[in-house]
Amino acid sequence: MKVGILTGGGDCPGLNAVIRAVVIKGHQMGFDFVGIRDGWAGLVELDYVPFTADTICGLLPRGGTILGTSRTNPFKHEGDVEKVKANIKELGLDCIVAIGGDDTLGVAAKLYELGVNTIGVPKTIDNDLSCTDFTFGFDTAVSIVTEALDRLHSTTESHHRVMVVEVMGRHAGWIATYGGLAGGADLILIPEEPFLIEDICKVAINRKERGRNFSIIVTAEGAYPQQAGDIITKDAEVDAFGHAKLGGVGEFIAREVEKRTGIETRHVVLGHLQRGGSPTAHDRILATRYGIRAAELIGEKNFGRMVGIQGNKIVDVSLKDATGETKTVDMDIYRIASTFFG
Ligand code: F6P
Repeated sequence: MKVGILTGGGDCPGLNAVIRAVVIKGHQMGFDFVGIRDGWAGLVELDYVPFTADTICGLLPRGGTILGTSRTNPFKHEGDVEKVKANIKELGLDCIVAIGGDDTLGVAAKLYELGVNTIGVPKTIDNDLSCTDFTFGFDTAVSIVTEALDRLHSTTESHHRVMVVEVMGRHAGWIATYGGLAGGADLILIPEEPFLIEDICKVAINRKERGRNFSIIVTAEGAYPQQAGDIITKDAEVDAFGHAKLGGVGEFIAREVEKRTGIETRHVVLGHLQRGGSPTAHDRILATRYGIRAAELIGEKNFGRMVGIQGNKIVDVSLKDATGETKTVDMDIYRIASTFFG
């Protein structure tokens, strides 16, 4: 069995740990591996690297992806799907393991329907993939947000300010909810619950009643004001999957709060810091469990599946079901976080 591995979409801590686990387990099962460079682009352009014992050495704690990544969508350009199929044949691959989020795995799901053997591993710091409780990378991102909030608390308190912290999360506010809960946020804004700027101002104004002279507000980049009815984007450009570049909601909120309340307000955008560096122990273990199960699925010839975790049990689900819709925030957890709002 010859297997191609690729990583697609935004990078995420734990990608290399998955690669390591799939390859080590797969070698034990007698498979050969080829690394496809830069996501689906590598199969369009026939760009690949052989996997040796050296390739996987030291991968467990390493951030990013040794294979490179891109947001290439072969279904976007005429003729690219045919190139992908021809190159899979040229390389003699029996199966492709795609490690990615909704977009990358959406391509894997469609290719499977066209007769290509694919297996998906759910990656994204956003934790917004369906049919799995968690994606690897999410825990690392939440840890980074938590540490940032701890640090921002001391400076915000010293200056009696309002601090608005913008975190990633395009259509789902998982990082904002978990990070804000762990970091003691006074308000968390998520795309699932469009906000009123008046309510945010109330949190800043009423803080004295709670014996506080500062406020920390966490907002997902995809949170948006009820009045505007849409997310705030950097420009009109979209990528191959139709996504706009988000950013600016934190700055918008900070400006409005200061203007309306007169309280000095600052904003911080954590941005790609949340995706960088070494995975947490939790993500290393989750990525490893996913990689092992992916190798087992290849052995079982059980294709068109995505590995996942449900109630701490590793499962496999249909790629089509997993990529059908965005998994939004568990509102029970958001309600727990909201106990501390105000
Ligand atoms: O990986 C998903 C994500 O983290 C989103 O939350 C964010 O909007 C996007 O990636 C940014 O990606 P990039 O700027 O790398 O294209």
